[in-house]
Amino acid sequence: MKINVVTGGGTGIGKAVAAMLPKDEQVIITGRRMDKLNKAVEELNAAGCKASAMTCDVSKREDVRKLAEHAASLGEIDKVIHCAGISGSMGKRETIIRINALGTVHVNQEFYKVMNGGCIVDVASDSGYMLPGLMLPGKRTYRLAISDEEAFVQKMVRKAKLGKEETSSQIAYMISKNFVRWYAGCCAYKYMVTKKIRVLSVSPGFVKTPMTDAEQGEATDTMLSYTGWKRGAEPEELAYVITALADERARYLIGADILCDGGAVTNGYGMMTATKRYDESSLKENW
Ligand SMILES: NC(=O)c1ccc[n+]([C@@H]2O[C@H](COP(=O)([O-])OP(=O)(O)OC[C@H]3O[C@@H](n4cnc5c(N)ncnc54)[C@H](OP(=O)(O)O)[C@@H]3O)[C@@H](O)[C@H]2O)c1
Repeated sequence: MKINVVTGGGTGIGKAVAAMLPKDEQVIITGRRMDKLNKAVEELNAAGCKASAMTCDVSKREDVRKLAEHAASLGEIDKVIHCAGISGSMGKRETIIRINALGTVHVNQEFYKVMNGGCIVDVASDSGYMLPGLMLPGKRTYRLAISDEEAFVQKMVRKAKLGKEETSSQIAYMISKNFVRWYAGCCAYKYMVTKKIRVLSVSPGFVKTPMTDAEQGEATDTMLSYTGWKRGAEPEELAYVITALADERARYLIGADILCDGGAVTNGYGMMTATKRYDESSLKENW
């Protein structure tokens, strides 16, 4: 039986993905807290899934190694959907970089060792598109993730320092997600050529999950006004995209990032470039 793994699968987008994966395949959902995972497993199995749970902190390589080995011991790993992550208001700069950026390196590298074929989808964010180039660490810093993890974390943390800690944490989130997209793209060719594993990333916009529960207010309203739907996404809307990408029939898609944000970034939403490309007046123009 095929084995699928969803990191961060106890809540939000990850849980919606787990519910949407093929019901005749096993799914292991992971996160740091077993109580949340147990509740999700109960719900998923009541809906016909074959779900189990395992705790795993993606910022700890050893945890991820154990998860990958456990999954491989159960059968052929087919899909790894890496949703685990925290927002810019859920931790300090270093924690954000360790979980979101380094966590992705751990997940891709440890699953690469045990997979043969299949697909890894790394969940990034449209925030990864929003910083101007000058505020992003260069490729040289990003490459340190492969050769020297501690130096990588320290350089990323320094680059994110801007004004107050709250602002710096938001910048750290944006940088971490820009990295996820870059890193997934870098893994794609090697993983396919050496082991026929497809690697992709998805960059969601605002999704209604526990992560965004607290994020209501003017700034969120402004951001949502840039989307075509004028609202945030339901987790299932992202889960549909992610499960479709991971499906074997989408096999020609390799290394791409799918920006699924209701059109906000395309419409000009960004930290420094809040200029709408399309607005109400453009509706009357002959595009
Ligand atoms: N919601 C949005 O608007 C939005 C937008 C763009 C991108 N995203 C990205 O989408 C992904 C899923 O987010 P979500 O919105 O579904 O939020 P969520 O419901 O908070 O899900 C995140 C999950 O990740 C787990 N997690 C956090 N830190 C972890 C760690 N160190 N190791 C393992 N698991 C960890 C959490 O469980 P524990 O706390 O129990 O570990 C939680 O279940 C994240 O990567 C997020 O950055 C979300």
